[in-house]
Amino acid sequence: MPAFHCLSTQTLVWRPNPRGQDPNSLNLKRLNPTLRLGSPPPISAVATTPPPPPSLRTRKTHPSLSPEKIELFKSLESWASQWILPFLKPVEQSWQPQNFLPDSALPFDDFTSQVRALRDRTAELPDDYFVVLVGDMITEEALPTYQTMLNRLDGVNDETGASSGPWAKWIRSWTSEENRHGDLLRTYLYLSGRVDMEMIERTVQYLVAAGMDPRFGNNPYMGFVYTSFQERATFISHGNTARLAKEGGDPVLARICGTIASDEKRHENAYTRIIEKLLEVDPTPTMLAIADMMRKKITMPAHMMYDGQDPLLFERFSVITQRLGVYTTNDYANILEFFIRRWRLEKTCGINERGKACTRFCVWASA
Ligand SMILES: [Fe+2]
Ligand SMILES: [Fe+2]
Repeated sequence: MPAFHCLSTQTLVWRPNPRGQDPNSLNLKRLNPTLRLGSPPPISAVATTPPPPPSLRTRKTHPSLSPEKIELFKSLESWASQWILPFLKPVEQSWQPQNFLPDSALPFDDFTSQVRALRDRTAELPDDYFVVLVGDMITEEALPTYQTMLNRLDGVNDETGASSGPWAKWIRSWTSEENRHGDLLRTYLYLSGRVDMEMIERTVQYLVAAGMDPRFGNNPYMGFVYTSFQERATFISHGNTARLAKEGGDPVLARICGTIASDEKRHENAYTRIIEKLLEVDPTPTMLAIADMMRKKITMPAHMMYDGQDPLLFERFSVITQRLGVYTTNDYANILEFFIRRWRLEKTCGINERGKACTRFCVWASA
């Protein structure tokens, strides 16, 4: 998924492309006249109390599910074991970040020559590319927020923290798979020497502390619509960063982003399947949930991204992802259209008049 400015300015550009790209030519420089090229970020600005992150809400936007609805999710447990858990990969068959990184267990000279090779490969990638990759990495690094979000959902949450039910197993194992994404991107960026790690780490700390507000409270119908959408959005954006890395001369980074994208695709398939099942067993509330999320516009998980200095950080990041074609407004529209078709909304049976109105809205909104 996808920012900005500080990422593009202090975070990235103060250590510009070592091959001599002129950082003063970046549009970002024009966007931010206070940019200080060639010097570290102004730390003093961070020491002051930051402004509050945008759009904090103090009330839940959706009531808790009724006992009958919670029972419905309980009744789907054996289905989830059979159809959702297989989307996970056993640890022994899973890739690990170390598979893509210089091996620090090698003799020092061998290790450093692998690091040098990594730096040679990334040397030609433009600064804007790093802005996008940093934003993607920061988004992945806010994983505690996403696990918390899933554990808020009524009927599927992990009640003990180590519950044996399939919904809880899914949440923990999904988290463990996702955990590798931020780890790998973070280490690669660190070794590249192209970014300001302290600024990035501060931004991650702000983001995890801020949380997120996807505007569905603890409603699992809406929650799974949201995760379906987000997994597809990250599949698309990581796929595009893979393509750009390949074009920019770094096949290893291309493989990294492509591998992460394929995880996101697998996760998308699982969440999409859940909504498909909910449309079958409880169509009207599911249709209402889809329409509600489309009406609100689906917010990006890192929409509260903040570096202690720039309140428009996320908006600026979004401008660059759009400019590079990594994640665009067209992608957003295409994702909506994809799900309308994938879930065959127009053919959904057994919905009441309100549900039918929601179907018409979804079709209209995605057209
Ligand atoms: Fe991810
Ligand atoms: Fe994901």
